[in-house]
Amino acid sequence: GSASVLVQRNPKFSKLNDEDVRYFEGILGAKNVIQDDEKLITANTDWMRKYKGSSKLLLQPRTTDQVSEILKYCNFRCLAVVPQGGNTGLVGGSVPVFDEVVVSLSAMSKIISFDKVSGILVCEAGCILENIISFLDNEGFIMPLDLGAKGSCQIGGNVSTNAGGLRLLRYGSLHGNVLGIEAVLADGTVLDMLKTLRKDNTGYDLKHLFIGSEGSLGIVTKKLLQEARRKLGEILSAFEFLDSNAMNLVLNHLEGARNPLPTSLHNFYVLIETTGSDESSDKQKLEAFLLGSMENELISDGALAQDINQASSFWLLREGIPEALMRAGAVYKYDLSIPVEKMYNLVEEMRSRLGNDANVVGYGHLGDGNLHLNVSTPQYDDKILSQIEPFVYEWTSKHHGSISAEHGLGLMKANKIFYSKSPETVKVMTSIKKLLDPNHILNPYKVLPCSSIS
Ligand code: FAD
Ligand code: MLT
Ligand code: ZN
Repeated sequence: GSASVLVQRNPKFSKLNDEDVRYFEGILGAKNVIQDDEKLITANTDWMRKYKGSSKLLLQPRTTDQVSEILKYCNFRCLAVVPQGGNTGLVGGSVPVFDEVVVSLSAMSKIISFDKVSGILVCEAGCILENIISFLDNEGFIMPLDLGAKGSCQIGGNVSTNAGGLRLLRYGSLHGNVLGIEAVLADGTVLDMLKTLRKDNTGYDLKHLFIGSEGSLGIVTKKLLQEARRKLGEILSAFEFLDSNAMNLVLNHLEGARNPLPTSLHNFYVLIETTGSDESSDKQKLEAFLLGSMENELISDGALAQDINQASSFWLLREGIPEALMRAGAVYKYDLSIPVEKMYNLVEEMRSRLGNDANVVGYGHLGDGNLHLNVSTPQYDDKILSQIEPFVYEWTSKHHGSISAEHGLGLMKANKIFYSKSPETVKVMTSIKKLLDPNHILNPYKVLPCSSIS
């Protein structure tokens, strides 16, 4: 089985009827109430084509008030809802499990304001990350978040998954970079937490509840404040790694991928990026670092990108791994935080467990202690899955790691939360969920274990 997560439809939820559809058409206009088969297939299927729902309705609100009206009605009717951004999530969180209504934020994609003095950007939740990156680039600023899915993922989705990405090492997580959020609760209440203050110690900082809550507490809507910092401070901005299996996959499956060190295949590759305030001094420092590391035999070979095109071709080798894995067949994905010194032990143990049955690939954000352990096979096979799980979770828990470093829990790991969180903590989370969404209409079956919710 692909998704291998067995949940039952909660019978408490109503089934969608014609009257509901007419009601939504009244709020949004008929063209934003989508029942078209092709569009629904896309909205029901996740990026990996691993999780598939059977929703009959996709709603595309254009304003916060419309989101509020939708949720108010769904809460009253007990219709379950899945908030959806760019649908690039990797844990089955962004698609319906059964017939939940999909609320897409795609039509809310305006950049509202940007203040060059403070570096504060306000935008709607449906802004595509790459558009924000280019917008800031044109203004001479840097977006503190970047990831391989930038062409499709939306800032609202990034915030809701607390996406880590390729620049976390330098700029920190979204908890630090998001200054405010506007979100709509399950009952339609709009929470305006959009203060553009850097310091504001007035009670609980509720916005943090929504960062990383995977659409289970509210829908992040109209705006979000995002700090974009100038090129200052330490110059290191990324420290990514991939092993030879990952390198091979990309070279074999991605058009245009070229190994800058083609003489022999190495066991490990590290991709280092610097972003300093002075390009030529950056280059000098990096050259000296490369030479020094070779002399000291810390590394066996290296290459320095000479221009922006070469730099992007280096990045393709790292950012292209998820795509290459998808093209290679089935993939079992694990996104783990593990102390760096033990990180690769797990990859090796997994390799010896699985032998020739699978290609075990290791890559990730080394600078953040975040390993992406991926197992690639020609097709999904429950026998292989039973050799990977629960072993991988038990191993991570034993080494005091986290079973979701940056992708979230989604559907895939909702029942695995106890490997990383104590029962007491899960109980507090459940109480918060019950308080903010008493009918559990928001993203059901995800994030928290079904047993703790019902
Ligand atoms: P979706 O996939 O649509 O949704 C993700 C979750 O957020 C779902 O639970 C959904 O219900 C919820 N959600 C979406 N929008 C809203 C909203 N407005 N309000 C409330 N809830 C919402 N992740 C990393 O952390 N680091 C990486 O480096 C990284 N690289 C990736 C590379 C590739 C090629 C791919 C495919 C994925 C990668 N990811 C990475 C996974 C990451 O979670 C997503 O790419 C991204 O953050 C999700 O944004 P999205 O708009 O696609 O959200
Ligand atoms: C990455 O770092 O490339 C992403 O998190 C996607 C993945 O893990 O496959
Ligand atoms: Zn990642």
